[in-house]
Amino acid sequence: MENFSLTVKKTFEVTRDSFIITFNEKIDFAPTQFIMIETPSVVRKPFALGKWFDDLAIGIQVIGKGTQYIVKQDVLLAHGPLGRGFVPPSGKGAMITTPACLAMAFDLHQRYSCDVFIGSLERLQMEIPFKTVFGNEKFVNLLKSLNGYDWFYVVGSDQMEKVAFNLLREKAPVYLSFNEYMACGIGACRGCAIQTKEGIKHVCIDGPVFRGDLVWN
Ligand SMILES: Cc1cc2nc3c(=O)[nH]c(=O)nc-3n(C[C@H](O)[C@H](O)[C@H](O)COP(=O)(O)OP(=O)(O)OC[C@H]3O[C@@H](n4cnc5c(N)ncnc54)[C@H](O)[C@@H]3O)c2cc1C
Ligand code: FES
Repeated sequence: MENFSLTVKKTFEVTRDSFIITFNEKIDFAPTQFIMIETPSVVRKPFALGKWFDDLAIGIQVIGKGTQYIVKQDVLLAHGPLGRGFVPPSGKGAMITTPACLAMAFDLHQRYSCDVFIGSLERLQMEIPFKTVFGNEKFVNLLKSLNGYDWFYVVGSDQMEKVAFNLLREKAPVYLSFNEYMACGIGACRGCAIQTKEGIKHVCIDGPVFRGDLVWN
């Protein structure tokens, strides 16, 4: 794990509140690993590492003061990469996510040739290379139509992940990225502990990705 600066190359507006930020630097990371980015508050904020075409990138949804600050910067201070890289089972996979996680989705698509499906509540402001559905009803219909996959990976809000987990769990193993609040990102503060069927796990060092049926009933 290292501390480093990331200089912003370009910021793409994906929706009114979701962005892809690309960087000039290149760093080695495993899929779904994340970095903790400094903000003016004491707490650093976690963001999944990804790619946007050839560039290192993060996706970001602006929801509070930290994310408002991050999207306005030219240089970001961060540490990482943190967490365990996600290695899916063999076979054909599908990632289901939101516009905020496009950079991670692009990286997984490149590495694992998985299909990517985006559910959005808002119109997109740019073209993206993945099938996108708009609104809750179309999202549920999309999930029901996904057959013939050997694994699913879902990342989004808790509510979105629960809906997807319940609709997909009978078809193939469903992996989920857990959204616990993080203070340290390195297993020291115990703030990101979750109860699993294999005991207490820490999302920052044991995750962030877990098989859904090990955590949820
Ligand atoms: C491992 C990991 C990877 C992540 N990767 C990404 C990413 O790639 N892109 C992205 O946009 N976001 C990602 N997040 C979430 C992101 O870190 C938070 O949205 C961000 O920290 C919010 O900071 P803020 O100061 O803007 O908002 P805050 O002021 O901290 O919060 C604003 C609102 O959001 C809620 N909130 C904040 N953080 C969380 C959380 N972790 N879970 C549930 N609700 C929360 C608060 O309760 C509050 O209502 C990730 C989180 C984790 C744990
Ligand atoms: S964030 Fe501190 S232990 Fe996980």
